[in-house]
Order: sequence, then structure tokens, then C-alpha cells
Amino acid sequence: MKYKTLKGLQDILPAEISVWHHIENRARGIFRNYGYQEIRLPILESTDVFIRSIGETSDIVEKEMYTFQDKGGRSVTLRPEGTASFVRAYVEHHLYNEPAPQKFYYMGPMFRYERPQAFRYRQFYQIGAEAMGIDDTKIDAEIIAMLSNILGSIGLTGLNFEVTSIGCKKCRPDYRTALKSFLGSRLDKFCGDCQRRYDANPLRILDCKVPSCIESRKGSPPVLDHLCGECREHFESLISHLELLEVPHTVNPNLVRGLDYYTKTAFEVSSKNLGSQSAVAAGGRYDSMVDEFGGPPTPGIGFAIGMERIIPLIKDSVGVTAGPDLFFCPLGAAAAEKAFLLTEQLRTEGLWVETNYDGTSLRSQMRKANRISAGNVIVIGDEELKNNKIILKNMTTREETSSALEAKELLNLIIRK
Ligand code: HAM
Repeated sequence: MKYKTLKGLQDILPAEISVWHHIENRARGIFRNYGYQEIRLPILESTDVFIRSIGETSDIVEKEMYTFQDKGGRSVTLRPEGTASFVRAYVEHHLYNEPAPQKFYYMGPMFRYERPQAFRYRQFYQIGAEAMGIDDTKIDAEIIAMLSNILGSIGLTGLNFEVTSIGCKKCRPDYRTALKSFLGSRLDKFCGDCQRRYDANPLRILDCKVPSCIESRKGSPPVLDHLCGECREHFESLISHLELLEVPHTVNPNLVRGLDYYTKTAFEVSSKNLGSQSAVAAGGRYDSMVDEFGGPPTPGIGFAIGMERIIPLIKDSVGVTAGPDLFFCPLGAAAAEKAFLLTEQLRTEGLWVETNYDGTSLRSQMRKANRISAGNVIVIGDEELKNNKIILKNMTTREETSSALEAKELLNLIIRK
């Protein structure tokens, strides 16, 4: 075999697609109830869109972006996540002029050049949501409740919702000083990247995946202990609203996000059944990003669910797609012509119908009908053609019903069943 999918990418074959549809349909239904509208964004953006928002010293920007020059010499990047693209579109199309909150969702592929492993891909799919224009924590609690409802309705159980606050521009200098004084005394124990980030952006050291760095930063002060008055109040209000909505959650003061744009609320949902890549969804508030993208100061909050992380958790409990409503087994050329015509007529009436094309024996055609899980089978031979009568066989109940060999009568018969 000459060609294969690239490392970290995967084909999603028809046999797996019913799980994808199940998740997407459930999510769409719940987004509707909460007033979220779909937005479809390009997969390719100017590289700057991501550098500015995700942060120059983040792992994503430093190591994981698929960046290249297009034929016009522009630096473009395959989106590593949806929020930056979304905010670009939100500002470009002045969506902030609509009454707040403006609520959006998207589904689609993201690209990160990470080391592939179980549940970690270089192309992966996210379902994301963003709520704009409101800084009241009711919207924070509401979006976390919506996420919990989506994951619950998909059939996920045993999830852990962790929440924290990572402060704002006002509290960050104080926290930065506290963190630098903790890390400074042991900087030689950290990797080269972390040592470089110590001055540029020490908060990123908390997100480094190198085992010795994870070990060395144990005991570092949590941001939660260094919040300004406004952020503390915001966090307390978030917790009381989560309690009001009865969203189960735990406060994790050490929760770190890999993207720089977050302010105040940050959260992550994890499953203990996924090993080291345990985050099935994550998100948070980003109150400065619209402003930084040239729009009016507008708060925002959102999340993204990782499809490849939730599919393994539910795929055994989602039923497979049923087969065609009807399968014709024609015997001989004249029967095949008739079956061909009826197939087309019944399809335009809304049934899923298949016929056999290759003149094989009845036995092998019946085997095929079983293989594709056909709901009903009709055999057409010379006798049936002559009398214009057939037997419709229900493949589940084995019940047999006779009918004229006409689209209208067959349609009524199959729809009634
Ligand atoms: P994120 O935490 O980078 O956040 O990604 C969200 C989710 O995408 C993760 O929890 C995980 O389930 C999935 N994911 C991330 N990387 C991979 C990968 N390499 N392979 C498979 N799944 C992966 C964001 O992307 C933010 N844009 C979320 C957000 C929306 N924040 C505010 N609004």
C-alpha cells in the first residue's frame, strides 16, 4: 500500500459515523435550547490571529502550529483552536452590535503538531461554544451547566468538573512576583524552555509537560490565593451560581490552561477513563481578547469539547445505523430493469432502497441483504413480473405480505410497517 494517512491524523469511516452524528445531534439540540447559533469559520487564518491571542510563549504557538507561506507569501496557519478565529470573525463582522449575550457554537477540525498518542491527534475535532457581551457570572454558570447537559445527554458519566479563577490584568503582576520568587530558587531544575519563559511569561512554566518540570513546580503558589478583590468576588459568585444550578464541581486552585487569553473563570472536564489525556472539554473567560483584536471592550466566555476524547467513552453504547428499508433481489435482466426503476421511484418517495446490480444467485443476494441489514426484501423473478405480484419479506419478523409490483402500493406497505 503506497499511501497512508499522515501521523496523528485519522480517517473516520462510515462504520464509526453514527457515534459522531449522535454527539453532534445531541449538542445541536441543547445549543438550540440555550439560544446558541451556529457559526462556520475558515480553517486557515493569518498566523497573527493565533500568536496574539494564544500567546507567543504558549506551547501551541511555539511548537504546535501548522504554519506555512501561501503562494502570495503570507504566513497562514491551520487553526489550532476555535476561539481566536471566532473572535476575529466577531470583530470583523461587528457581531457585538447585536443584543448581548450573543451566543455561538461551531464544530470542526483543529490542528496541532503534538506528539501523537492515545486520544491525542494532530487533526482533532472540537465542538465549541462562545457567549459574548456579559460579565455576570450567571453566564459562566449557565455555560458550564450547558456543557454538563451536553456531555450528560451524550451518555457520559463519571466526569469531574474542575473550576478556578486565573485572575485578570490587575491581579497578575502580584501573582507573577509570587510565582517568580518561588520558581527562581530552583530554576536550574527546569527545562530550557521553562528557563527562557521565566522572564517572558513565568505562568507558562505551570503548563510545561516535561516530567522534571512538573515535579519541580510542586508547591508553587496558586493563582487563586492572589486574586484582586473584583476577581475574588467574581469567583465566589461563580461558585454560588454553580451551586444554585446544581452543577457538580470541584475547585482546583492548580488548574492551568495552555492558552494565554484567559481571565478570571477557567474550567476543565476530565474523565478518569482516558489515562494521561484526560481532558474531554475545557474553557474559560476571555474578557480582553475582543479589545485586543480591535473591537470594543467585550467580555466573552466559552468552551470546547474534544470529540476524539468522548467517542471512546460512549461508542459501545450507541447503536449502529440501521440498513436500507428495502432490498430488491432481481433474477434475470428484465427483473433487474424493473427493480432498478422501482428503486429510483421509491427513493424519491423518501425510502432508503437498494437493488442488486450484478446478476448473482438468489442465495448470494440474500446473503448481501442480511449483511447490509435490509429491513425488507423483495425477490423478483419471471413469475413475479408476469403476474405483477411479489412477496415482501420483513427481515426482522420474517412476516410475508403480498403486494402488486408497483411503487405506490409498496410504499404504503413499507411505511405502514
Ligand atoms: P483546549 O483546552 O486547548 O481549549 O482544548 C479543548 C479540548 O480539545 C481539550 O479538552 C481536549 O478534549 C481537546 N483536544 C485538545 N488538543 C487535542 C488533541 N491534540 N487531540 C485530541 N483532542 C484534543 C481550547 O481549544 C479553547 N479554544 C476552548 C475555549 C473555547 N475556551 C474558550 N472558548
